[in-house]
Amino acid sequence: MSSTSFAVFGHPISHSLSPRIHQAFAQQFGIELTYRTIDAAPEDFDTAVRRFFDDGGHGANVTLPHKAAAFALADERSDAAHRSGTANVLTRLPDGRLAAHNTDGAGMVRDMTERHGVDLRGHNTLLLGAGGAGQGVAWRLLDAGVDTLTIVNRSPQAADVLADAIGEPGRAHTRYWADLDDIGSYDLIVNATSAGVLGASLQLPFSLVGSRALCYDLSYGNAAQSFLAWAKTAGARYAFDGLGMLVETAADAFELWHDKRPDTDPVYRMLRGPDA
Ligand code: ATR
Repeated sequence: MSSTSFAVFGHPISHSLSPRIHQAFAQQFGIELTYRTIDAAPEDFDTAVRRFFDDGGHGANVTLPHKAAAFALADERSDAAHRSGTANVLTRLPDGRLAAHNTDGAGMVRDMTERHGVDLRGHNTLLLGAGGAGQGVAWRLLDAGVDTLTIVNRSPQAADVLADAIGEPGRAHTRYWADLDDIGSYDLIVNATSAGVLGASLQLPFSLVGSRALCYDLSYGNAAQSFLAWAKTAGARYAFDGLGMLVETAADAFELWHDKRPDTDPVYRMLRGPDA
């Protein structure tokens, strides 16, 4: 295996856009690399990752359902990975040990603020879902200056655990899913549930959507359609899927591995197609 070998681990993973994104970034710098998808069942993940790096793999992306396992197997962890307890990027350190990073929150906020031009400061925010994806973005929303973060999870315990970990009760607190009808409206609503990916649609009241609301789904493609349709019908000012976030998080991984910052806009436009 060459020293410029990369992969994304997931389960399933065959439809991942990451190989296209990283090849497009690499072309910007004339870098030659291989980037493949590796489908690993949860029980095989650790072994598959170690084999990949033992064979000379240089870096890996990690997606569902392995983000917590990637965090756990690493020898060193970035601050963002520590805060969320999950990782989406693994790098090999010079001594062969592995470092875990989480670029999800940074990528999402950059997509919202720089690509879509939305200033998040002062927004009262509703975070739907406190699983791995919700944990990955919650702190960055607070860092970006949202005023409050209301965390709602179908099973309330996960929301409580996340709010306790954040430890800013004046800004980040939880409510019950059953209370969504009565909790007023929000400027920013982030769908971090896996409902869309699982083919389910959330039954959300239109009253959640404030007059200047940005509704953002961390997933993209078909998985985001139901939430975005709900947001538009409810009158959201902006309704975005997570395709831009995917490209931004990939750019952060690329920079960690190659020490070069790719231009994300042409790659985003290529993936979005004529509607971009
Ligand atoms: P991910 O890494 O995508 O966050 P996860 O850690 O398995 O995956 O978390 C999935 C999230 O989607 C959880 O918040 C889950 O809620 P529960 O903790 O109650 O299971 C949420 N979720 C999945 N399907 C949902 C649905 N139909 N309605 C509401 N929440 C749902």
